[in-house]
Amino acid sequence: MPQQISDDAARTTAPRPASPAAAPGAGADAPVGPTKIAVRDVSVFYGDKQALFEVSLDIPDKAVTAFIGPSGCGKSTFLRCINRMNDTIPGARVAGEVRIDGEDVNVRTVDPVLLRQRVGMVFQKPNPFPKSIFENVAYGPKIHGLASSKAELEGIVETSLKRAGLWREVADRLQAPGTSLSGGQQQRLVIARAIAVNPEVILMDEPCSALDPIATARIEELIDELREQYCIVIVTHSMAQAARVSQRTAFFHMGKVVEMGSTEDIFTNPGDPRTLDYITGRFG
Ligand SMILES: Nc1ncnc2c1ncn2[C@@H]1O[C@H](COP(=O)(O)OP(=O)(O)OP(=O)(O)O)[C@@H](O)[C@H]1O
Ligand SMILES: [Mg+2]
Repeated sequence: MPQQISDDAARTTAPRPASPAAAPGAGADAPVGPTKIAVRDVSVFYGDKQALFEVSLDIPDKAVTAFIGPSGCGKSTFLRCINRMNDTIPGARVAGEVRIDGEDVNVRTVDPVLLRQRVGMVFQKPNPFPKSIFENVAYGPKIHGLASSKAELEGIVETSLKRAGLWREVADRLQAPGTSLSGGQQQRLVIARAIAVNPEVILMDEPCSALDPIATARIEELIDELREQYCIVIVTHSMAQAARVSQRTAFFHMGKVVEMGSTEDIFTNPGDPRTLDYITGRFG
């Protein structure tokens, strides 16, 4: 019998990997929401050095988008464009447009503090404040005036800790320092802190790279649950993690986005040979 060539296989010149570089997770083909963040021609300069070159892409709501690519290709720089964290870096300059729900985040009328309430960020190293577990989560709602009474504030803290999957472990020690928790618990505390101010977008820059496999699995489960409510962007060096948790993947290389597509396509049938080389470990 003649071999059938599917449209999918025919649409690319890149050789198809013999086996997928990483297996897509259960949520790989979950539906994604409409575009939440639209990025057009974003370039970033640190002094004279250009780190990003006219990056354009659309990030969907109610989904997890993974950014992958070799060290130094600009993934963290790009994440920082979304909540204007590059503003805080001396000598950094951003050109181009980042729109969240159609609104350009770089116009003067956008208050970066309020923007960072809408766009939370979780870093590689868990960074709880030197305060109690309770205060870590209550701090944001307090400064943004989100609770009108002590009872309401306690309710927000409890709900946020529950959504971050940490409540059962800390309910009887809310006054203990945040730093007394394990690394994986601290990362969930930081996620609870981000959730507590009702963000729309959560940016995660290698959130599991300092965690053991069990704590990593816990955070991945959490990301999968949170995707139903938020627009999540995760940077990861783990191909397996990108395949497990995301619905969309963008491959960055030398300050540019080489391609972005469904996670399934990027990992089983990438359109560009550089993506294939990277996901199969031939460089990076
Ligand atoms: N604060 C800074 N000042 C000057 N150059 C910077 C700064 N931050 C990043 N860069 C440069 O910009 C480029 C992109 O860096 P970035 O940290 O965004 O890469 P990355 O993809 O996140 O890398 P990694 O995977 O190692 O975290 C690199 O060449 C880096 O040296
Ligand atoms: Mg980085």
